[in-house]
Amino acid sequence: MNTDQIRQTFENTAIVYDGLIPKLIPHYHQQNRLLLDLIPFDRQRPLNVLDLGAGTGVLSSLILQAFPSANVTVFDLAESMLETCQRNLSAFRDRVTIQQGNFARDDIGSGYDLIISGLAIHHLDHPGKQRLFKRLFQGMNPGGIFLNRDIVISPTPTLTQQHHQLWCQYIESQGEDSNYWFAKYLAEDIPASVEDQLKWLREAGFEDVSCHWRYLNFAIFGCRKPNQ
Ligand SMILES: C[S@@+](CC[C@H](N)C(=O)[O-])C[C@H]1O[C@@H](n2cnc3c(N)ncnc32)[C@H](O)[C@@H]1O
Repeated sequence: MNTDQIRQTFENTAIVYDGLIPKLIPHYHQQNRLLLDLIPFDRQRPLNVLDLGAGTGVLSSLILQAFPSANVTVFDLAESMLETCQRNLSAFRDRVTIQQGNFARDDIGSGYDLIISGLAIHHLDHPGKQRLFKRLFQGMNPGGIFLNRDIVISPTPTLTQQHHQLWCQYIESQGEDSNYWFAKYLAEDIPASVEDQLKWLREAGFEDVSCHWRYLNFAIFGCRKPNQ
């Protein structure tokens, strides 16, 4: 799938996204809360934050509430996602910068203390993920934190099959058509294993590289840029 097709998919999803996504992603709200808890900074500290593939701004909203001195750049391909995001974050508008762009190619800025991403980086191919991790390292202040919540592939084909089956059962239990969503996943997404992504983060120069949470083919992982 090329970038225009990905953008088109999300242009059409913005209105229903917030209601739909917890039915497709197990423990979606729990993941959001854990991601917030994993941010190690003092709550009063001024923070420069980038939300990559911010969508409707779910993660940004939690950060803006919890860190009253944080400024967040929400970065996304899809204009309709960003319009919904702008509405959802209107209470914080003085602390929000909206940036439309492609994180595979466009300038993502620099000077960030925290970069978060949710369910977005799996749209890049594996060399694209590796290049992005290097650019995140360059765009971060020393001591900066990167946290990513994403869909991943399981360690073996047998486990992949088992995890996919359990994932589809979850989708059905939420009243959604798992055949439709699973076919879309196979056609559109390029997940990598947790292990490979942790390796790529180390290669980019990060430390404290770790998977913090995992459930079937979903994970939250992250790292820190060294202080020096
Ligand atoms: C599934 S939504 C995730 C929204 C939110 N981060 C979350 O965790 O629920 C993925 C978002 O990533 C954006 N996206 C995908 N590829 C992108 C790229 N190359 N550059 C910028 N945004 C991208 C899509 O437009 C979409 O809004």
